[in-house]
Amino acid sequence: MQTTINQNRIAETLRTLFEDSKNDRFKMLKGVSKGIFRPLQPADFKDVYLSISKEQGEALCDLIQENHLKHIVEFGTSFGISTLYLAQAIIETGGSIITTELLESKAQRAQENFDKAGVGDVIELRVGDAMKTLSNHQAPIDFLLLDGWKDLYLPLFEMLESNFHRDSIIYVDNADMDGSQILLRTVAAKSNYHIEYQFHGKVAIIRCNHSSKNEII
Ligand SMILES: C[S@@+](CC[C@H](N)C(=O)[O-])C[C@H]1O[C@@H](n2cnc3c(N)ncnc32)[C@H](O)[C@@H]1O
Repeated sequence: MQTTINQNRIAETLRTLFEDSKNDRFKMLKGVSKGIFRPLQPADFKDVYLSISKEQGEALCDLIQENHLKHIVEFGTSFGISTLYLAQAIIETGGSIITTELLESKAQRAQENFDKAGVGDVIELRVGDAMKTLSNHQAPIDFLLLDGWKDLYLPLFEMLESNFHRDSIIYVDNADMDGSQILLRTVAAKSNYHIEYQFHGKVAIIRCNHSSKNEII
């Protein structure tokens, strides 16, 4: 009963957030224009969701539930859309989530959204640079969602790698971007990982300890 109530509140919060994110396009262009004379920074997108899609969210949720994953870490919270999908999944698997966001204002909005959805107690939101907020992480990671600044994908992966185990899954969003490619090329060269692509190459799923060749779906 409690699970149903929470799932309804999450679904309702997600509906509101996706509705609001329809204004992303204009805000996004404003952010991108700041990069004409200098490199872009996360703060240029402080008002933009930059979220995963509804279809991605649903697939993410299925992936976690089908593999019975519990210990979730997310890099790049933004306003919390992807985190709410993670919450939807772990309500069923009995897990918990650590998510981290660089910008204080975004983290504040995310926390409000988690509370509104009734899942504040299963999500630990850490504010600051993920390379610092996750630096002392010493617990098994079943599922790592990489959806922050792409240049940090490889350093963050390497920093957290000792916490992966044979059933861990690493979800790489925007796999087609330059920073992500650096991570994926490095991982592809190792024998203890297997990569598969989804959503026409936008998403890469890295699995540990599989021996077959990389494949595109
Ligand atoms: C693509 S958005 C995340 C979208 C979110 N996962 C979703 O689907 O709703 C990337 C976020 O990562 C944050 N970010 C960028 N660099 C970061 C860092 N070093 N540490 C933590 N968060 C960072 C940005 O501020 C931005 O909000």
